[in-house]
This record gives sequence, structure tokens and C-alpha cells, in this order.
Amino acid sequence: KDKIKIGLLGLGTVGAGVCKVLTENAHEISQKVGRAVEVKTVLVRDVNKKRNIVGDFVITDKIETILDDPEIDIVIELMGGIEPSRTYMLRALQSGKNVVTANKDVVAEHGKEMFEAAESADVDFMFEASVGGGIPIITPLKQCLTANKITEVIGIVNGTTNYMLTKMTKEGMDYNTVLAEAQAKGYAESDPTADVGGLDAARKAAILSSIAFNTRVTLDKVYVEGITKITPQDVEYATELGYVIKLLAIAKDSPENGVDVRVHPAFVPKAHPLAAVNDVFNAIFVKGNAIGEAMFYGRGAGALPTASAVVADVVDVSRDIVNQTFGRIRCTCFEDKKFCPVEN
Ligand code: NDP
Ligand code: HSE
Repeated sequence: KDKIKIGLLGLGTVGAGVCKVLTENAHEISQKVGRAVEVKTVLVRDVNKKRNIVGDFVITDKIETILDDPEIDIVIELMGGIEPSRTYMLRALQSGKNVVTANKDVVAEHGKEMFEAAESADVDFMFEASVGGGIPIITPLKQCLTANKITEVIGIVNGTTNYMLTKMTKEGMDYNTVLAEAQAKGYAESDPTADVGGLDAARKAAILSSIAFNTRVTLDKVYVEGITKITPQDVEYATELGYVIKLLAIAKDSPENGVDVRVHPAFVPKAHPLAAVNDVFNAIFVKGNAIGEAMFYGRGAGALPTASAVVADVVDVSRDIVNQTFGRIRCTCFEDKKFCPVEN
């Protein structure tokens, strides 16, 4: 074959960003892969919706158009939510197609099933964009830092709530107005309850800590508290006392307590580097016994930053197709570990 062909599920904020990056950077990508990489077919819910997206692809509302097409090598899932995304990805993997996704819901709650299906079919399952938007963090944890025993992963992993807390602190904006702004910018989930309630960050914390600590961290092992109870008075007190309020994801692995993963708002001293992470930016600190500390920082949501991570996975998978190699996580590698008790 002279081209790698993609079936794209979803043409919303991130799907449109992916089409833009694949089109604008087509030359560089084809040079890096050794073949052209093109979207052939796009699945949407509503084929009659007006869209400002140009591209030489077919738009359909029938998943079979993609899953039954032997020319399609890679399925990119950008619809969001558990179903039907989970089923479509499983069917794609089972039919020998590589899968790239930004869907933390499915990775956090059904990752094992996905890894197993990918391993059985000898294809890739990649999810760099599921945590930290455009920040490279999954690949660094699974490859670049893999020589370490990692003991801590701490950070700001939700762009919507960080945007909201920043605007509430710096501009005194009220909760509902600033949430509506984050939604309009395309940062929030289609149901923003997961953002403000901390579940989105908890899913990301589960994904990061599973890879960092090489164990399966399920959502019931994560303490979750969002920002819904933060009042303007809390923000004012924090400012007066020399702190800023941030929604933190904190994951630790120690011989005494086992694996301890939590998401909750915290008072962060103004001088701390995390206090300076504002707007839609995310930051993740990783502590390992060889590297010491490393920090990853960048835009945690938005069309193009997220597309940057999705297309990076697509390039990796395309190289694997060309070279007949695989970069997937093996489903059998996780160890059983002791967990800290959680009261949600
Ligand atoms: P959007 O809501 O903007 O887009 C979703 C797209 O999926 C739409 O094109 C919609 O079709 C399509 N879709 C939804 N359900 C179905 C279905 N049942 N069948 C066919 N098509 C369907 O979502 P985002 O682009 O914001 O997010 C996509 C994924 O990326 C999510 O998993 C999200 O968590 C993740 N993500 C998002 C980030 C962001 O900044 N937005 C950042 C990182 C990850 P139609 O257009 O017809 O309605
Ligand atoms: N809703 C998510 C956020 C998108 O605001 O961080 C990125 O995963």
C-alpha cells in the first residue's frame, strides 16, 4: 500500500483539530512515516450538520463503513463517553485495526479489555491524548522513564477546572459564567459534571498511576472530590493567606501505605511552581529513583494541542505498520500491589 488510511470516529472539537493537523502537516508527516497518512472516512452522529471542515473524506453515520473497510489501517476514536466508543474500539481492534483514542473514560474503565484485544490481534492501542491534552506524558511514562521506580505523580490534569479556578481567582468571575466560557472554548466534556466533579481528573490519575506504578489502578481506588463546593469566599481566603486553590491529582506508591491516589482541591503556596500553572494549562510532576524529579507542562485541552498528541500516536502507529513492529502496552505486565483504603 502506498498510503496509511484512517477511519475517524467523531468530528467535534478534537476531530476537527486532527483533520487540520493531518492536512497542514501532511508533507512532514509523510516524510517521517515514509508513506502518506490520510483520513478516508469520518463517522458522526448527524451527517446533515453544517461543518467548516475541508477534507477529501467521506462522512457517514454507519460504523460498518469504517469497520468493514479493509483499506482502513487506523481507527481514531474521538466521540467520547463509554458507549458506543468502547464497543467500536473493541470491534476495530478485533478486526485487526490499530486504535488511537483521546478517551480517558474508556482507557480508565476498560483499558484492560482494550490492551488484551490489541495484544490478541497484534495491533496497537494508543492513548497519549487521554491525559494532559497536548502534553507528552503517557509515552514518557511508558518509555522514557521506564527505567525508574516511580514513587510520585502529582499535578493539575484538568484544563476546564484550572481555567475556572484561574478566572475565579484573578478576575473574580463567578462559577457558572466561567464554566460556560470553558465549554464555549471546547475544553469541557460534553457533560461537564465529570470536569467539575473531579471524575475526569480521577480517570486521568488512574491512567497515570497505573502506568507509573505498573499496577492496575481502578477508579474505585481513587479518592475523588471536585470543585463544586468552592465558593468565592474560599478563593478570597486563599489569596489573603498567600495560597491559590488548585484541583490536584496526587498519586504515591510507598512500601508503608501502598498505592494512594486522590483528586481534590488544595491550597497551593503562591511560590510553588504549580501555583503558576494557569488557564487551560496542565502540569505533571513525576518523581523517580533514577531521574529525581521531572515536570511536564503545556496546554491540557483544546482542539490543536489535543490533536498534536493524537496525531503523534498516529505517526507512531503508522511507523509500526510500515516497519511491522508494535509499541503497545502488554496487558500482562501489571503487578498486584497493596492499595491505601479509599472513602468516597
Ligand atoms: P465533541 O463533543 O466536540 O465531539 C464529539 C464528536 O463525536 C462529534 O462530531 C459527534 O458527532 C461525534 N459523536 C458522538 N457520539 C457519537 C455516536 N454515538 N456516533 C457517531 N458519532 C458520535 O468532543 P471533543 O472533540 O471535545 O472530545 C472528543 C474526545 O476527546 C472525548 O473523549 C474527550 O474526553 C477527549 N478529549 C477532549 C479534549 C478537548 O479539549 N475537547 C482534550 C483531550 C481529550 P456530531 O458532530 O454529529 O454531533
Ligand atoms: N475536559 C478535559 C479537561 C479535556 O478540561 O481537561 C482534556 O482531557
